[in-house]
Amino acid sequence: MTDLRDVPVPRPGSARAPGPTLHEQLLADPTPPPWPLLEQAPVFYGDADIPYTVYTSEAYAQAEYDHMWSRTWQWACHVDHIPEPGDYHVYDVGPHSAIVVRTTDGSIKAYYNACMHRGTQLRGAGTCGFATQFRCPFHGWTWSLDGELVDLPDRWDFPHVGDDTHRLPELAVDTFAGFVWVNFDPAAEPLRDYLGVLPAHFAEFDIEDRYIEAHLRKRLPANWKAAAEAFLEAYHVRETHATGQLGDEVTTQYDVFEPNVSRFIHTTGLDSPQRPVPRTEEQILAHLTRNLRRGMEPLQLPEGMRARDFYARYVQEQLGQAYGRDFSHLSQSMTLDSIEYFVFPNAFFFPGLQLGMVYRFRPDPTSIDHCSFDLLMLRPRPLEGDAPPPPTPVELDVDDSYTLVAAFGGLGKVYDEDTSNMAAQTRGFRSSRKRGQTLGNYQEVRARHLQKRVREYVEAGGGSAPT
Ligand code: FES
Ligand SMILES: [Fe+2]
Repeated sequence: MTDLRDVPVPRPGSARAPGPTLHEQLLADPTPPPWPLLEQAPVFYGDADIPYTVYTSEAYAQAEYDHMWSRTWQWACHVDHIPEPGDYHVYDVGPHSAIVVRTTDGSIKAYYNACMHRGTQLRGAGTCGFATQFRCPFHGWTWSLDGELVDLPDRWDFPHVGDDTHRLPELAVDTFAGFVWVNFDPAAEPLRDYLGVLPAHFAEFDIEDRYIEAHLRKRLPANWKAAAEAFLEAYHVRETHATGQLGDEVTTQYDVFEPNVSRFIHTTGLDSPQRPVPRTEEQILAHLTRNLRRGMEPLQLPEGMRARDFYARYVQEQLGQAYGRDFSHLSQSMTLDSIEYFVFPNAFFFPGLQLGMVYRFRPDPTSIDHCSFDLLMLRPRPLEGDAPPPPTPVELDVDDSYTLVAAFGGLGKVYDEDTSNMAAQTRGFRSSRKRGQTLGNYQEVRARHLQKRVREYVEAGGGSAPT
């Protein structure tokens, strides 16, 4: 065991892992990465504990619904979910519900999902489908896809109802990265302003050119913030997903692009600089290919080639064949690395080729200790012909293993490891004698960023954060 007193401690806010940085590793790749990956935006938000009551206070959860979920941009569905006029998709978060619809002229609108007569939801929570109009199941008031009131049974009884006063109110809607985004605040700032650096970064990637290959939705045993935070740092990888040995960590860069975006990049196929005895390139390649089909000839590393470069080429060829595309221009980093962008409050995008996931977390209005997690695998659209339509999400309950969904392959086991941590942490929030969590200054700064933004929205709305 290391004696903690012997470890040099940097000044708060200056911490970086010892050894070569991820930035230096990217610069050493034979194919340069796109410029956004070379951007660095470290921040320091102080080192105060985060009180556990941010996860356990019902009043705070209500304040989040009232002041944060009601005013932030969230993706509601993919554009492929509503390709034709009349296709609609209902997006719910806590008490908020929106109907996102493709209208007759091909544009997308979003309506508050409530009847203008007596409030009945026009479409069920989480439903999707096709409609020529929205007819309320209670008394039959009916709106066109454009939100116009087109039928009012017994019109004579409602001289006080006008076409203008009883249109379906619209909420803010826009598209980005192939997804439809909504904001329940009609006065919301434009999505592109909210996204900050993201449109410029994503212009270098091809996320809009991807389709949904697989989609699962799982109930997780944690408050939505704790669940999201489990994916905001790679500090847990050595313990949770490897062997706990020094050297099993991944080299990771953490950035916050204020106000709403954060990112990590961690490398695949390179030794951690903290590894006491470096692995040979053959050992690295064997590790990278450990999940390849059994019975397959092991890959032979050409003389003098790094495992990372060889394996990146292999992945480009395999996925190129599978999706009918040429990926040989991609950098090693874009091909292999885990590149994760977070858009506050609940969206995650991985623009890399091999790990092309999208996540979304939503609170469970029936339990502060649970949340709903959407996990999508995006793949490049075929150059010819249409991509397959989005699959119906596979629903997994708390105890269902991710490994039930074959499309996620070996990743399923990794996500299961995260789930058991979440359940233990949720219980620990209440059994702890210490009142709050102590975060790493650098590696866990994205969790602090999430907490900071929630608090800012709640306080701006007149609510108060737990202390
Ligand atoms: S509540 Fe919708 S028509 Fe009456
Ligand atoms: Fe994890």
